[in-house]
Amino acid sequence: MIKLMFMATARFFLFSILLAISSTSATMAGNFYQDVDINWGNGRGKILNAGRLLTLSLDKSSGSGFLSKNQYIYGRFEVQLKLVPGNSAGTVTTFYLSSRGPTHDEIDLEFLGNLSGDPYTLHTNVFTQGKGNREQQFKLWFDPTRDFHIYSVLWNPRHIVFYVDGMPIREFKNMEAKGVAYPKGQAMRVYASMWAAEDWATRGGQVKTDWSQAPFTAAYRGYAANGCVWPAGGGAATCSASGSSWMWQEFDATSVRRMKWVQRNYMIYNYCSDAKRSPQGMPPECSATP
Ligand SMILES: *[C@@H]1O[C@H](CO)[C@@H](O)[C@H](O)[C@H]1NC(C)=O
Repeated sequence: MIKLMFMATARFFLFSILLAISSTSATMAGNFYQDVDINWGNGRGKILNAGRLLTLSLDKSSGSGFLSKNQYIYGRFEVQLKLVPGNSAGTVTTFYLSSRGPTHDEIDLEFLGNLSGDPYTLHTNVFTQGKGNREQQFKLWFDPTRDFHIYSVLWNPRHIVFYVDGMPIREFKNMEAKGVAYPKGQAMRVYASMWAAEDWATRGGQVKTDWSQAPFTAAYRGYAANGCVWPAGGGAATCSASGSSWMWQEFDATSVRRMKWVQRNYMIYNYCSDAKRSPQGMPPECSATP
């Protein structure tokens, strides 16, 4: 155990050095056949249009999902998504990053369906070392079922940022200095799924899924993972050529202003403002969340 932990640390250290001195070409904008595996759903997930489109479906007996072939340490991960139109109550469509194991890290975007004409909720969360409970929820400023829109996650040593059509909506800063664990030592894969959650998703579970409308289908395209690929067989991580743009990205004043605008107008839940949930005081990272 100790030896393993030492090796992981040494490997990460080595990786950091290599990252500083080399930046070779790796994954770029994608083809679903090359980039992902459909890992769940028994035919309900489909790759179409020569790898440019992927659809996930849900019916009463199963949902479906895919995951990236590669694992990453840091990067910018993006997909275009068109959500289930009409009555999507009780359905959840996701795009997220996750490592494995009991102390896993996870960065979540989950779209909670709704009745026809009622707005979707974009639910976000960040788990570090197995600890989550950091939910923030948003309305969107467009109908996400009419067209494809771009959803992205930036993950570098300074912060994690969630973007919708290039607008930053949420930042999770590296606050290890305040004793908050930060994802940095566990490689993550990119996942997407469609599943049933009528017990909580829509109006807190009051509105159930209308299964007569099944199958429910969401479409993904434009998948791009530009990150440092963590080799399954050992060795140094290989970072994509555009490394500098995401690896060292920080917020400038414009980004902060845009994010605050989104949060003021579209945020509908923030764990950092939920005093009932944290009677002992807010989690330490809340004091630094703009
Ligand atoms: C669904 O629509 C209702 C009514 O507008 C709204 O209160 C709710 O937040 C929406 N989203 C979900 C996931 O329930």
